[in-house]
Amino acid sequence: MTDIRLIKLTKSYGASRAVDNVELHIRDGEFFSLLGPSGCGKSTTLRMIAGFVDPSDGRIWLGEDDVTQRPPEQRNIGIVFQNYAIFPHMDVAANVAFGLRMRKVAKAEIGRKVEAVLAQVGLTGYGERYARQLSGGEQQRVALARVLVTQPRILLLDEPLSALDKNMREEMKFWIKDLQRSLGITTVYVTHDQDEALTMSDRIGVMQRSRLVQVGTPEDIYERPETLFVTSFIGHSNLIDVEIATVSERRCRVRFGGTEFEARAGEGVEVQRGAKLVVRPENVLIDGQALPPGVVPFPAKILSETYQGPIVRYRLAVGGAEIVAERQNQIHQPRFAPGASVLAGWDPGRCEALAV
Ligand SMILES: Nc1ncnc2c1ncn2[C@@H]1O[C@H](COP(=O)(O)OP(=O)(O)OP(=O)(O)O)[C@@H](O)[C@H]1O
Ligand SMILES: [Mg+2]
Repeated sequence: MTDIRLIKLTKSYGASRAVDNVELHIRDGEFFSLLGPSGCGKSTTLRMIAGFVDPSDGRIWLGEDDVTQRPPEQRNIGIVFQNYAIFPHMDVAANVAFGLRMRKVAKAEIGRKVEAVLAQVGLTGYGERYARQLSGGEQQRVALARVLVTQPRILLLDEPLSALDKNMREEMKFWIKDLQRSLGITTVYVTHDQDEALTMSDRIGVMQRSRLVQVGTPEDIYERPETLFVTSFIGHSNLIDVEIATVSERRCRVRFGGTEFEARAGEGVEVQRGAKLVVRPENVLIDGQALPPGVVPFPAKILSETYQGPIVRYRLAVGGAEIVAERQNQIHQPRFAPGASVLAGWDPGRCEALAV
């Protein structure tokens, strides 16, 4: 049973900080993703947990142990990289057995363990194949098996799916999540892919320029982003210029399009300061006649309609702004032609004012 605590974790390279003061508690058994754009410090954080990079400052705890000064081989972690490179001159069984042979485990026991872990990753019967005889997804499973066979306390995965094609990535992300859940192993998963993070994680930590800027469940991060950076990094949003009329606690009243209405208020939202109202396209409601109770209706004009298969996307002119609405392409849903006059609005619980 192992949780991970990062305390004021910092890594400097000369004058620049790759990781700046990261405070994080990853719970035992949790699937935790570090998400952020290229260069924000995800891999450096992971490599410090693994012991491959020495922190400039701060501490790392795995369970009851302060491992900050310990070399990687004494941390009992398993790490899988993007370029999983399994040894081409060894078959699958030998690849998986490698770590156990290095640890001088008895031969019969190695055989048993390799069989068991290959079954776990769905590769029973693949022991005698070589890398060139495996698909990318299968090679990635071997890379995982090679790590899991040593029974690590925690599993660290650095963009493990990025070398795979889109369909294989889709399949593997559910597969890894299921495997992680069945093993109950504390896992840190590094990705810049928001879909992977949203689908697989119990919680996500979003990083921006060396700092951890928000930690929460996928729903927290998607529905209640705390900054404009998080909003724009996770999915698409309408960002509408509004005026703030009043603020109390985490709610505010905003002025837009000649009316005033309620919204959630993010950190730093103040009267007289600029703010953006964040509304996800799927939360923009459109109707020819009426919107549900509680939704302020704005007169709007359809600018364009784009058919995208499961969804239909509209661009709308609303109160001097241009916004995007997405609707499920379902039978009985009316469609709107460009030029049509409609009502558009959003639920007060599904919009958030954020400071600019
Ligand atoms: N050994 C090093 N020496 C100097 N700078 C480094 C070193 N390793 C990383 N950096 C810098 O630290 C920053 C963070 O790098 P890191 O590899 O952690 O980013 P990342 O979030 O994993 O990005 P990516 O998504 O591209 O993999 C980058 O600006 C990088 O150039
Ligand atoms: Mg990286």
